[in-house]
Amino acid sequence: MLKSVYSAVLFFLFLSVLTYGQQSNSAEEINSAIAVLEPTQGNKVTGTLTFTKLQEGSGVQITGDIQGLTPGKHGFHIHQYGDLSSSDGKSAGDHYNPTNMRHAGPDDTMHHAGDMGNITAGTDGIAHVDVKLSSDISSLIGRSVVVHEKEDDLMSQPAGNAGARIAVGVIGIAKAK
Ligand code: CU
Ligand code: ZN
Repeated sequence: MLKSVYSAVLFFLFLSVLTYGQQSNSAEEINSAIAVLEPTQGNKVTGTLTFTKLQEGSGVQITGDIQGLTPGKHGFHIHQYGDLSSSDGKSAGDHYNPTNMRHAGPDDTMHHAGDMGNITAGTDGIAHVDVKLSSDISSLIGRSVVVHEKEDDLMSQPAGNAGARIAVGVIGIAKAK
């Protein structure tokens, strides 16, 4: 009798340890991410963007400043890879496009998940970013943000004819503030 009670207690402890491990693994919910933009070779564009998971529905709000730009519009996208090994930013791959859509603007019904249109720099060379994306924040971790030399025409395939990549940054999990 005593022996079976003892076994039952041991078994319960064993189960608790097992489920505790599982809970702490799945408990790492990502609420905030960050991308520090660095210039590609020959450029001087920098910036820091914060990705905040939206509390209603799914999606993220992306905010921050990008500086060192020529005044006017510059294509702005999430690209597939967080690989910044090439000095021209091309190792970041194409626009993030998990649902196999055509390139367009963020307000079009169908577009690449990574299409964020353009950012606009003032005469001071600074663009204030405040855009919403419908992607889940965790699907963006490990990918990259790319700023282009020219305006994205929101139409040309496969990337809006936006020219060279002038700044790139990997999207990483942000340290809790
Ligand atoms: Cu791009
Ligand atoms: Zn695109």
